This record gives sequence, C-alpha cells and structure tokens, in this order.
Amino acid sequence: MDIQGIKTLNDWIRDSDNVVFFGGAGVSTESGIPDFRSVDGLYHQKWSYPPEEILSHSFFERDPAEYYRFHREKLVLDGVQPNRAHRKLAELEEAGKLRAVITQNIDGLHQAAGSKKVLELHGSILRAYCSRCRKPWPEEAINHGTGIPRCDCGGVIRPDIVLYEEPLDQDIMEEAVRYIRNAEILIIGGTSLNVYPAAGLIRYYRGNKLVLVNLSETPYDSYANLVIHEKIGEVFSQITV
Ligand code: OAD
Repeated sequence: MDIQGIKTLNDWIRDSDNVVFFGGAGVSTESGIPDFRSVDGLYHQKWSYPPEEILSHSFFERDPAEYYRFHREKLVLDGVQPNRAHRKLAELEEAGKLRAVITQNIDGLHQAAGSKKVLELHGSILRAYCSRCRKPWPEEAINHGTGIPRCDCGGVIRPDIVLYEEPLDQDIMEEAVRYIRNAEILIIGGTSLNVYPAAGLIRYYRGNKLVLVNLSETPYDSYANLVIHEKIGEVFSQITV
C-alpha cells in the first residue's frame, strides 16, 4: 500500500470543499464488472465480432440482434452492487467536500451508492428510448428478455448510451468542463485515459492537486501531482475525512 500517497490524499481532501472525481471502468471492477482494456477486460474476450465494433452506431443499425446478445450477456450483470469507491464518493459529497462525479461508466452504480451530482459522459444502460420516435422506455425493455426490443411505433428501442461514432452530449461535456476547470482537487481514477473526447477533459484542470488512482500506468501519469497505483476501492476505504 502506498501509505505516503494515501496520507497526502487525505490531507488534501481534509482541507478542501471542492473535490471533483473523474472515473472510468476501473471504478466498477471491484463490484465484479470487468473493465475494457485490462487483460481480463471486455476487449480481450472472444466474441463473434470485436466488442469495440459491436459497441458502434453502425453495428447497432446493421445488426441489432447481435448487439443485444452482447449487451445482455456482457453489459447487464445481475446483482452488482456499489463498492467502497462508489460509497466513499457519495459520503464525500454528503459531507460537502465533493462537488461532482464525472464518469465514463454506464452502470448507474454511483447513483446506487447515493451520489447526487453524477455526470454520465457515456450515458446509462438503465435508460432506453426508441431510436425512431425517441419515446423513453424503462430499462426492462432492453436489458432482459431476448431478441430486438421494439417500440409501439415499430422502431428499435436502444440504450441511452453513447456508442462509438456517436457524439457526446454537449451540455454534459460543458458541465463537466466547468466542474473540472473550477476544481481545487481533481481525482481521476480507474480509467486508462485512452478514449477521447472524455480523456481530454483532464486538460481543463488548472489547479495543482491532480491525483491519479489507477492500477496501471496511464499516458497522463507525468501530468499528475500525486499518482497512486493501487486498487481504488482499497485506497478510498482509507480516506478518513
Ligand atoms: P479501461 O478498461 O480502458 O481502463 C480501466 C483502467 O482501470 C485500466 O487502466 C485499469 O488498470 C484500471 N483499473 C481496473 N481495476 C481497477 C481498480 N480496482 N482500481 C484502480 N484501477 C483499476 O476503461 P475506461 O478508461 O473507462 O466507452 O474506458 C473508457 C471507455 O472505453 C469506456 O467508457 C467505454 C470504452 O470503450 C464506450 O463504451 C463509449
């Protein structure tokens, strides 16, 4: 354990009421959800097509049945619960220290842990809507059952997530930029910082307390003021402020 790193993080958080968290799939691995790029991640698993291709707009349009086979088997996991990282972030918000969680995850676990201000850059599999008429549908319409879910209008119901080739929601991006630009402490955790435009958000931070908590190295390690290469749940469970 990086005792010195965790002590520094604790000291910084104790003195601040303006912490912002920006995270990715590594935040949910301790809940049993595989990430994308680790050796046992989704992108190294065998499937009829590369998962990056299945998770694209053109693939969804071309073959929604195969998309949904993948979606229900790999993205929807029954019984997953928030872990220590999600819960600590909710506690820090409740304590008036943390202003926002910005996440690339689509699993809804931050809200399940009690976080209120959650900016979902890539959407959520817990929401759905018709790709033709835009009518909203409950998550049960897409996440369970078999085959292609269809709206009353005949259109294919799709998850409210950002697929590859699709733009991010501009309002959410702009709000994320505002939080990051004004943050005193920016903690980035559980993300390989490989996927843009989300990874580019880091460049908006102007302070001098940029913290990276990630198991493996990232392209931004040298930018950070504090780097902790440990499991995020273990690190966050030792935040005692
Ligand atoms: P990645 O799978 O690219 O990166 C996850 C990172 O978390 C890796 O660097 C791991 O080392 C690290 N990690 C795993 N478990 C951890 C733990 N317990 N504690 C700390 N670190 C841990 O996932 P993202 O960066 O989130 O996009 O990927 C970004 C986007 O790529 C996703 O939102 C998704 C994917 O394609 C879309 O689907 C649009």
